[in-house]
Amino acid sequence: MKILLVAGARPNFMKVAPILTALRARGHETVLVHTGQHFDPAMSDSFFHDLGMPAPDHSLGVGSGTHAEQTARVIERFDPVLVAERPDWVVVVGDVNSTIAAALVAAKRRPELGCRIAHVEAGLRSNDWSMPEEVNRVLTDQVSDLLLTHSPEARPMLLREGINPVRVVEVGNVMIDSLFATIARADGEYPWERFGFRRGEYGLVTLHRPSNVDTPEQLAILVHALEAVSKILPLLWPVHPRTRRQLDLLGGGAGERLKLVEPVGYRDMAGLLDGCRLVLTDSGGLQEESTALGVPCVTLRESTERPITVTEGSNRLAPWPLTAEGILEATQAALAAGRQVGSRSGKPFGWDGQAAVRVAQALEEAKVEDARCPLPR
Ligand code: UD1
Repeated sequence: MKILLVAGARPNFMKVAPILTALRARGHETVLVHTGQHFDPAMSDSFFHDLGMPAPDHSLGVGSGTHAEQTARVIERFDPVLVAERPDWVVVVGDVNSTIAAALVAAKRRPELGCRIAHVEAGLRSNDWSMPEEVNRVLTDQVSDLLLTHSPEARPMLLREGINPVRVVEVGNVMIDSLFATIARADGEYPWERFGFRRGEYGLVTLHRPSNVDTPEQLAILVHALEAVSKILPLLWPVHPRTRRQLDLLGGGAGERLKLVEPVGYRDMAGLLDGCRLVLTDSGGLQEESTALGVPCVTLRESTERPITVTEGSNRLAPWPLTAEGILEATQAALAAGRQVGSRSGKPFGWDGQAAVRVAQALEEAKVEDARCPLPR
């Protein structure tokens, strides 16, 4: 089969990489489209390098902008690529603007081209419609033919939205495929030493959600909390460009024990995560990766679309609304709980390093000869 994969932003690359490898190993023709939503070398190129990904076949170069501008540019520029390539499948991953934009284009072209759409990481729901990602998730699932889920809680979410169960296949977590493939080499490079830390003696911070970083008041609360936490555990904070801009406006944040650095590459991040004592984050990906490794994680959000990382993993939500005291309290509880035993055990179900093979199987078994008749809605 000819399978076109779409990647656009940092959290997409580690999901697409193992799927590409699995599809190629099984003899399928692949086409990789990079929308260019993320474009800095540290947010994009370094990930291709660390994940051993081939250069994209098509680069759309959409860049930043408002949600409308960014989404519209992907729609406009992806359409002619899709028409020229005529794949059997379009595979989209995650919940970024590039995901919904590409899925929408493919859905409109589906009757004419006979392509089908698979959404990897379907069925995640925060039920928080103020998150742009929630809008992207729900709409992408609605227009996709095949919904590939990464945890058992996703299926009931999809059925509640009127999705026919025959469209849903649980494949597990492809992001954990990349993590497990990378972790031994990442650890062997002792990335913490480059930042002046010793293994197990620092905390790792990431923050980039608009609700946390776009308003100076909210960001100031978080910075204050991080300063308090850093008194009990020094913190390393690779700063997302979005957050950097706001921090510069706020003027502050950095301290002796709160170390702000540029975004780090995929392999370094995997090593830093495995080597840290605790993660403080608002990233969905880090909630999952910390669970897969058993590293304690405090999530700085009101809700999580990944509750399995709390019920079966090492994640906990800081008390809401976020305050310095609440975050400190959650951090102390996470530190007391310590690293979970049984990490890298393949739990939750399907987080075992083999999810991409199951993605490939699901595409094969969905019988593309029926492509002009998408699966029943
Ligand atoms: C996007 C995703 C979010 C994901 C995050 C990971 C959407 C709606 N959001 O958010 O789900 O968790 O990526 O990072 O798709 N910028 C750069 N260089 C880059 C990329 C971005 O400087 O390579 C700056 C731009 O000025 C831009 C800002 O960061 O305005 C935000 O980028 P954008 O792609 O709009 O959203 P993210 O916050 O990265």
